Amino acid sequence: MTDVPEHVRRNRVLWDEWAQKFAAGGEEAWAQETPTWGIWSVPESQVKMLPEDLAGKDVIELGCGTAYISSWLARRGARVVGIDNSAAQLATARRLRQHYGLDFPLLQGNAEAVPYPDASFDFAISEYGACLWADPRRWVPESARLLRPGGRLVFLVNSFLMLLCMPPEDNVAATNRLLRPAFDVYRVEWPGDVGIEFHLSHGDWIRLLRGAGFEIEELVEVRPEPTATTRYPFVTLEWARQWPCEEVWKVRKRAVPAAIR
Ligand SMILES: C[S@@+](CC[C@H](N)C(=O)[O-])C[C@H]1O[C@@H](n2cnc3c(N)ncnc32)[C@H](O)[C@@H]1O
Repeated sequence: MTDVPEHVRRNRVLWDEWAQKFAAGGEEAWAQETPTWGIWSVPESQVKMLPEDLAGKDVIELGCGTAYISSWLARRGARVVGIDNSAAQLATARRLRQHYGLDFPLLQGNAEAVPYPDASFDFAISEYGACLWADPRRWVPESARLLRPGGRLVFLVNSFLMLLCMPPEDNVAATNRLLRPAFDVYRVEWPGDVGIEFHLSHGDWIRLLRGAGFEIEELVEVRPEPTATTRYPFVTLEWARQWPCEEVWKVRKRAVPAAIR
């Protein structure tokens, strides 16, 4: 972990600091039988993040945090690996793994350079993990390398539309006005020492994903139920019922590279 990019180093410091705040949420999510997703806990039946049949599949969670998604995957019979940049987040994950008597690898590392051979996995997933905090020009090709032909990558992040409407101040919710240009968005640093995120327009995601060898199967614009609640201050339910504040990308690694089709 000595020779890592600056954003990975900085995000590791941030997540080691934040880990304690995320422990209770992790405990709640580990206790859930049925997966829910994103800041509004949208049910799996609505967004369908997970493949139907995970039994015996090799899967990896990129930026697993407290690893509750990994636990859901393991309970469905997948051979799961969780990787995360933060030792403190992984300490919670390991404690909960032991508490629930599950056994799967939890690695500390950078999802942009995963220590597994090519074509090791059938499925890769990230919810606000590497897909938000790692450099897409690195982690997307890396996930393509890790997946077998036909393997799927699914990730959930803030919507690009919401990013455009976010005021820079901390704890202030998205507005109904466009507050920043949509062009040339990539690496985003909010004021204060709060780490480095990556946000891409839909056109940029499509170019990057296809260039890395993926076909895009679906883009789900997440809409919470009218009664949904969240503990996050950056968007209101009124906003999220009118515009998507989160999006799910579902892509599949081409069975045959584009160049020789
Ligand atoms: C919000 S948590 C994601 C876990 C969980 N799904 C959640 O929503 O709480 C973000 C996680 O991404 C991890 N992360 C950030 N950059 C990473 C990188 N380059 N490689 C692996 N994990 C990374 C952080 O350490 C943190 O645990």
